[in-house]
Amino acid sequence: MKESLLNKIASREAVVGVVGLGYVGLPLAVAFAEAGFSVVGVDVDAGKVAALNRGKSYIEDVPDGQLAPLVSEGGNGRLRASANYADLKAVDAISICVPTPLRKTGDPDISYIINAAENLARLGCKGKLVVLESTTYPGTTEEIFWPRLVTDGMEVGRDVFLAFSPERIDPGRTDYTIFTTPKVIGGMTAACNEVALALYGTIVQQPVPVSSPATAEMVKLLENTFRAVNIGLVNEVALMCDKLNLDAWEVVEAAATKPYGFMPFYPGPGLGGHCIPIDPMYLSWKLRTLNYTARFIELAAEINSHMPDYVVSKVADALNDECKSVKGSKVLILGVAYKPNVSDVRESPAIDIIHLLQERGAVVQFHDPCVEDLSHEGILLQNTPFSAELLREMDCVIVVTHHDVFDWDMVAAEARLVVDTRHAIKVKGAGRVVYL
Ligand SMILES: NC(=O)c1ccc[n+]([C@@H]2O[C@H](COP(=O)([O-])OP(=O)(O)OC[C@H]3O[C@@H](n4cnc5c(N)ncnc54)[C@H](O)[C@@H]3O)[C@@H](O)[C@H]2O)c1
Repeated sequence: MKESLLNKIASREAVVGVVGLGYVGLPLAVAFAEAGFSVVGVDVDAGKVAALNRGKSYIEDVPDGQLAPLVSEGGNGRLRASANYADLKAVDAISICVPTPLRKTGDPDISYIINAAENLARLGCKGKLVVLESTTYPGTTEEIFWPRLVTDGMEVGRDVFLAFSPERIDPGRTDYTIFTTPKVIGGMTAACNEVALALYGTIVQQPVPVSSPATAEMVKLLENTFRAVNIGLVNEVALMCDKLNLDAWEVVEAAATKPYGFMPFYPGPGLGGHCIPIDPMYLSWKLRTLNYTARFIELAAEINSHMPDYVVSKVADALNDECKSVKGSKVLILGVAYKPNVSDVRESPAIDIIHLLQERGAVVQFHDPCVEDLSHEGILLQNTPFSAELLREMDCVIVVTHHDVFDWDMVAAEARLVVDTRHAIKVKGAGRVVYL
């Protein structure tokens, strides 16, 4: 079976399935289609499936112009989307890119992975390569996914090939692509690694084999924990600089001139997105089950999740200096996406900042060129068009996301008071600028 799969991959006769066509799965499906494979993408969201089969993308990193030629003729092209798992029956390899959020309790929610495994088990996976890409805690692939996928008498590495390969995509980034970003792959056996490396070697320049799925799972969590902890550290440096009356950005930028042994991270209004605030919690949860406290993770989470409160305290102080209260003040949030140049608002610190301001009675609006409306746990706001008049009307403008298209000179010139959490305003204008 291994030889047959390897031959099909080499000749591009292999049909590739992708489960979950979101920020991770859609670019992956496009990459396999562009590498010459027929691709079947399955998603439970019928709206996404219909859009894709019309050549309409909903992910910034995949423009319609790239997608449309692949799904040409109403879904009869090399890439086809479906809401039906049965369409994966005849595929040779399947990559799983379903969500792995946290539950309300803060515990990992791997129900999407379990659901995908049970659906695939019903189809039968004999002869297939199955690769889990969803970020998860060490042990998921072998202890949770594999037992649900396997049917009687199937041997891994002989009848079916299983690996974990974490996704490193960074939506909005253009300097690295799927092809130029090395990809870690941990197969359950040497044969699993061989088949997975052969498949992913067609879309990435440098596959990086590791000894097991659990190692690959831990690699991803180390990468994102590294970011969460370093952001936590630099956010605490910002809190300390505030007390010392120093400019945290000046300190970081000067430290970053050291040519070795230092990597700059910058303070901000808190963590956002689907990865950095959440993935380390998968690791700390797993360690709790082993009676161990992941102290760096817990501390970084505490500092980072406090940052929206800190931003609001800066706003309150700045308004107070002008004899104004938060209650009744008109506040504009500039940028609600969790990072520049994307429309993703998941876990965005802007949401917490808006909640905190509304609780205190501020009249909050937002402007974000990438986000039309924000509806989240009691917040229901429409994007307000950007203008000099709008800026002049506001008692305070809070810069939360540094989108490239913002006219910072106009913000500096027209806004009376800016609380800039991103150090975006570099020029002196009419009003006051308060940095974190
Ligand atoms: N977004 C990122 O930047 C990023 C980067 C690296 C890793 N990841 C990880 O990749 C995984 C996917 O993340 P994403 O951002 O692409 O999520 P997403 O929400 O954008 O996409 C997931 C898709 O899966 C679909 N889906 C849900 N349950 C399904 C099921 N049972 N069967 C089929 N489809 C199903 C959803 O409808 C959605 O379209 C997560 O584990 C995430 O942590 C995300």
